[in-house]
Amino acid sequence: MHGFPHGYASGWYQVGWSGEFGPGAVVPLRYFEKDLVCFRTESGDLRISDAFCLHFGAHLGYGGKVEGDCIVCPFHGWKWDAEGRNVDIPYSDPERMKLQIKHWPVAEVDGLVLMWFGANGEAPTWDPPRMLPEGADHLTDFWPVYPDTCHVWPGLRFPPQVATENSGDAAHFHYVHGAASVPDVEEWSEGEHWFTTGFKVTFGGHAPTTWATPNGPVDGRIVTTCHGMGLAAGRIESFDLVYTLASTTPIDRHTSDHRATVWVPKVRGDGSKLDESVRDRWARQQTTQHVADFPVWENMTYIAKPPFAATEVKSFHALRRWIEGQYSNSGGAA
Ligand code: FES
Ligand SMILES: [Fe+2]
Repeated sequence: MHGFPHGYASGWYQVGWSGEFGPGAVVPLRYFEKDLVCFRTESGDLRISDAFCLHFGAHLGYGGKVEGDCIVCPFHGWKWDAEGRNVDIPYSDPERMKLQIKHWPVAEVDGLVLMWFGANGEAPTWDPPRMLPEGADHLTDFWPVYPDTCHVWPGLRFPPQVATENSGDAAHFHYVHGAASVPDVEEWSEGEHWFTTGFKVTFGGHAPTTWATPNGPVDGRIVTTCHGMGLAAGRIESFDLVYTLASTTPIDRHTSDHRATVWVPKVRGDGSKLDESVRDRWARQQTTQHVADFPVWENMTYIAKPPFAATEVKSFHALRRWIEGQYSNSGGAA
């Protein structure tokens, strides 16, 4: 994407899935122009810190080892605890140093790993959002998302705002995603850190029956809630009730990792068992839809004041205003 004017908005961003980080995992990450390391302590907590050892600059993500709740540097064995404090220099006294590596807030939600980014270094100003409704358990009510119903596309050329705006864009569902017609925007609403858009959609309108609509076309809805700029959570109300996430996490101002997650229920809309083949169809359908957006997103230019069509002007203006607020609200109280 060209000409994008904004920096980073504070918020929760996805950096992976819980299933990727087994016990003792040490994984290098790079987001927000920062080198980071993610590790799982022996007590099971996930931690993200700056990558570089404060002693002599080794990257802890390449050869660092978890010991208890600490990570040990591969270069000279210095040990850093779960808050980043230096607690051991194997050949000297760490007390005299009082060094601490910066840690970043992490949350594991519904099988996702989320990281808080404060544009001005501020602590989280809102709680990590749930992707599933209250009371739903991602492990018992849904097929495990990792590794079967998720996908990452690393290093794509667009910022998170492009994906955020996509969630409110009714017309592109017809032209990019093959919806039988342009869906009606049924509702939109917003809070300080979320924006919801609901569309009326006819599913399976092309055929008497499909794998997704075994009893024929379904008049349903797609409801998308953006949580900050990095997370666009979807609810597909078709024959099945499926939850999705499109997440976009910036590596730098021009490049992002984009991820798709699909929570496919274990029970179908009519109470029958939803088997692996239908699960895999949902996963493929979602990844195909994500890929369909990329050629547009990676090559478009930013238009500050688009000449919206009459049918889209109200909801799009509301979404753009909310988005501007996400940037200007960034950097609140530490
Ligand atoms: S660079 Fe990490 S212990 Fe020396
Ligand atoms: Fe799209």
